Amino acid sequence: MKIFIDTANIEMIKEISGLGILDGVTTNPSLIAKEKTDLRTCVKKISEIVDGPISAEAMSMDAEGMIKEGRELSLIHENINVKLPMCAEALKATKTLSSEGIDVNVTLIFSPHQALLAAKAGARFVSPFVGRLDDIGQVGSEMLSQTVAVFRNYDIDTEIIAASIRHPVHVLEAAMIGAHIATIPYDILKKMISHPKTDEGIRLFLADHERAKKS
Ligand code: E4P
Repeated sequence: MKIFIDTANIEMIKEISGLGILDGVTTNPSLIAKEKTDLRTCVKKISEIVDGPISAEAMSMDAEGMIKEGRELSLIHENINVKLPMCAEALKATKTLSSEGIDVNVTLIFSPHQALLAAKAGARFVSPFVGRLDDIGQVGSEMLSQTVAVFRNYDIDTEIIAASIRHPVHVLEAAMIGAHIATIPYDILKKMISHPKTDEGIRLFLADHERAKKS
């Protein structure tokens, strides 16, 4: 499974990229606002750090505007893909942009039906939101699993990004289900690295090594 980081924070992206495990980055308008930056400056900086897909969200709500914004965003760097919120206008825009060779990530996917339509329109990525479904008492992982099954049935090559990841168990579920990618917030990536028994083991090994040197 490929690992993307879900943030617009440059320092966090640098740190995780330095671990050698990062395949791409997703941003969204809320993440950009949190960093008090603008989208274009931010994704340009990210493209200098990460050599992989970077999602930048268009804000228009009509196909014409989405296409215009998408074309502009794609010029920032060859790794930029245009994030469009799932709706009828986004499907039209996805068709046009993908036919021009511009990658689209259709976001805010909450059902396999939406994912299937986005893939049919030519999306390179779809982003099913797992955590936000859990938030309203539905089972996000079930929707992700259905989406993966549908795509496998028809050999659809659109990549599924498990999004709205809230804890390491969501990442495990995404990997078990077979999502192509998980886009993971920084703090969850950090949690995935460590384990109390690993820390304890390191402490013990170091202590035994010191004792052995003295004897
Ligand atoms: C995906 O690309 C989105 O940026 C993200 O995963 C949304 O997650 P949230 O539901 O935690 O805001």
